[in-house]
Formats: sequence, C-alpha cells, structure tokens
Amino acid sequence: MANKNFTGRLSMGGDTHQVPLELFALNRKRLVDRLRAGNGKSIVVLQGGDEVPFYDTDTTYHVFRQESYFMWTFGVLEAGCFGAVDIATGKSYLFVPKLPASYAVWMGPLLTLDDFKKRYQVDVVNYVDDIAKVLGELAPTSLLTLKGVNSDSGLTAKEAEFPGIENFKVDNVSLFYHIADLRVIKTDYETEVMKYVTKVSSQAHRKVMRMAKPGKSEYQCESTFLHHCYSSGGCRFVSYTCICGSGNNGAVLHYGHAGCPNDKFIKEGETCLFDMGGNYFGYAADITCTFPTSGKFTPDQKMIYNVVYDANMAVFNACKPGVSWVDMHHLALRKILEGLKAGGVLKGEVDDMVKVNLGPIFQPHGLGHLIGMDVHDVGGYLPSEPPRPKGRGEDRLRTARILQKGMWLTIEPGCYFIDPLLDEALANPEMAKFINKDQLERFRGTGGVRIEDDVLITENGCVNWTKVPRTVQEIEDWIAGVDDDSKYD
Ligand code: GLY
Ligand code: MN
Ligand code: MN
Repeated sequence: MANKNFTGRLSMGGDTHQVPLELFALNRKRLVDRLRAGNGKSIVVLQGGDEVPFYDTDTTYHVFRQESYFMWTFGVLEAGCFGAVDIATGKSYLFVPKLPASYAVWMGPLLTLDDFKKRYQVDVVNYVDDIAKVLGELAPTSLLTLKGVNSDSGLTAKEAEFPGIENFKVDNVSLFYHIADLRVIKTDYETEVMKYVTKVSSQAHRKVMRMAKPGKSEYQCESTFLHHCYSSGGCRFVSYTCICGSGNNGAVLHYGHAGCPNDKFIKEGETCLFDMGGNYFGYAADITCTFPTSGKFTPDQKMIYNVVYDANMAVFNACKPGVSWVDMHHLALRKILEGLKAGGVLKGEVDDMVKVNLGPIFQPHGLGHLIGMDVHDVGGYLPSEPPRPKGRGEDRLRTARILQKGMWLTIEPGCYFIDPLLDEALANPEMAKFINKDQLERFRGTGGVRIEDDVLITENGCVNWTKVPRTVQEIEDWIAGVDDDSKYD
C-alpha cells in the first residue's frame, strides 16, 4: 500500500463510489449511544479478521476480506487488527500488527501509526502488541466483546482475544444484540453504498442478458458479470458464488458450487436463471434475473415468468413500515398458487392449497432476507424480534421481522420445477388433487424462475434500486437492443 494520499474515503478511484469514513464514525456513534446506558465506563473491543491460509501452503484464500462487524465499525481493510471504542468518551482506538521491516521489500511501504490514523480517521492508533497496556490505562469497568450466533449460518462470531485480556472483566453478552440490531437499519451513508453496488450489479446483469446466447457457457456469463463489477464498478469481490443456471439448472437453488461450476453450455429455447451480486467495500448486492436465451419467451415460459413477476410486484406494492415479513412471504406463495391455477397447472381452491402447504413445493425458499454488509445480513432473529416461524417454507425465512424504515431487503419470489418436490406432491393425495398432472409434466426439466430485487424500506413504502429489465416486454426489448442503458441507469 504505497498510496499515502489519505482522502478520508474508501474508493477504487475513477468514477467509483467514494465511501466517506464518516459512515463508520456514525456507526460507532450509534453504537456508543445505544450502549451508554448501563455500560458507561466500558470499552467495546472487536477483533478484525485474519488471513486464512490455503491449507498448508503459503498462499491465502483470494484477497483478504474484512470481518463484517469490524468493517461496519471501523472500515479498516487490513488483516490482523483490533479496534476499540470507549463508551464514555466515544474515542476510537485502532490496533495494527507490527510488521517486520522486510514487509517494505515485498509488500510496499510500511504505514506508520500516524498514517493509519489519517487513513481511517480514528482517534488513536497503536500496535496490537500494546493493546492490553493501552486499554488498561483507560481503566474500563469491563471490555464488551462480541459473542453471538449468526442465525443464517449457525456459526459464532469470533470473540476478541489477546494476551492480557484475562486481567480485564470481560462482558461478552451485552454487545452482540445491540450491534446486530443496529446493522439492520441502514444509515443514509450506507444506503448510498447499497445503491451504488446495486447499480453496478444491475449493469452487469444487463450485459450478461445480452451475451448469454445458445452456445455460450454459463461460466462465460459469470465471467462477464465479474468483469463488469470489477472493471467498471471497482467491486473486487462478489457477495456470494455466482449462480448461473441455464435450462434445468435454474431449478438447482444453489447451483454454481465447486461440484457444479457453471459449466453447462446454453441451449436454444432455454431460460437462464442468474443470481449474482457485486460487493463494494463490504456492502452487498443480490440480484436474480431470469430470461429466455433466444430473446423471446415461449408461451409457457411467459406464463411462469408472469406468475413470479406478479408475486414480486404484489409484495413490492405491499411493503412498508409496520408490515410483517412473514405475511409478505405468504402473500408471494398465494400469488404463485393463484398464477399456476390461472395457467392451468393447478386446480381447485387456492385457500385449500394453502391449507396443505402446496406453495413450498414450487417455492421452497423464503421470500427474501435482510441485506447489507453481509448478503444474508445479521439481526434476523434477535431476542426482541418475532421468532423463526415453524411451518414448512416459512421456516426458511431469514427474518420474521416487522418492516421498518431504513431496512434493505431482497424480494425474491420464485417458481421452480424441482423433481423430488414434484414427485412428493404427486405422491401425496392431499396435494396431488390440486395438480393437473399432464400440464405440470410439460414444465419438468425446464428449471424455474426467480425475480430478485434489492429494495429499501422508506417512510411510506419501498424503493426498488435494482435497475434491470423486468417485464416480459422489457426483457425482450433489452435483448433485442431496442433499449439502451439510459433507460435503466
Ligand atoms: N444469492 C443468495 C440469495 O439469493 O439469497
Ligand atoms: Mn440471490
Ligand atoms: Mn437473496
């Protein structure tokens, strides 16, 4: 890191978004304001991420990516750091590793402590080796460390640990709830970054929609997406492994993993279901587009697409503060059942289909999730919030919260033709009686449709910042080159 031109911003230069360091200062202020009552003389201590070696080799997993709670609080890019916030004074402390002089030979000029202070606009910078001494001089009543289970992964946040911590009173209970809860509501600074990463990811999806032709491979589509996000948007990371399913792979919800590396070649007449999102200085986009590779929907493809589109729009139009996300999930499932009935795939009363839980046969996943510094953002099931619902399908929801202004969420209804689920429904007389088997069989092997948008809950409703062709007409026009980027940017 030879660049000592400290700008007070995180940015990749050029036209990329400039993330002001005030974003992180405001996050710290919100944290201190939350914690002051009852913890007035305590100090928050967070441990940043460490490089992860690739097994026994001397290489690491891609480029280091900062741990999200630490990034949210300090905006620091380097590995091996600690940070502290004194609740009484609001002062911020950064602790950086003391690197050997040889670092300057291999990695570029060493930053001094003062450089770090300027770079990240924190109040005090010291070496990690001095953390116990520096914090000890502040004589806190306790250190508040982060311990809690991520309700998406089931994994536990890494609690700060350093030699000498045993000489402090450590409270690893008070912090987790508050910091996770604060991350749920985005500040205006954060919303600007979210808008940017959603915009770049939307542009990249639009590029892919035009090049994803029969004869191209799924991984070439992935590559086009990655290239645009990085080259034009400065997004050095994506938020999750790109899911580029063509044809029946669209029904494989987590396609694209190591065993299925987006390696199928696209065929004439198939639809593509591509779920990809860039990541900019930690903030995530998560967008899915489904489109016909021939450029024109067949009548069957159009019918299923519109079923999902109607579900997406119904939810979008209903989202506003005070609304239950679980209710939105059920609204989407109902719209999908209604649409499949109107399209002749299902028959009977939709209310009765709901009673036997037919919806999750076609959309087994939850409607969507909080998004922010993690693609499945934290705070979904904190103790103060509604618990995870227990019914089939709704139990996959990553939050059951009541919507509030400042939340960013995905709205991602889907309708898939997944063999084991269709077989299950056909084998269950309670479900099979609603299915026109002949009609359903036409769709087996065709994959599925998901329409995933990234939205911000506002005072009175909801704004969709995903700028991609969404109606059948818009998609066909986009692929045909009728419209250009100015319609969407
Ligand atoms: N791409 C992961 C998700 O849609 O939740
Ligand atoms: Mn997604
Ligand atoms: Mn998602």
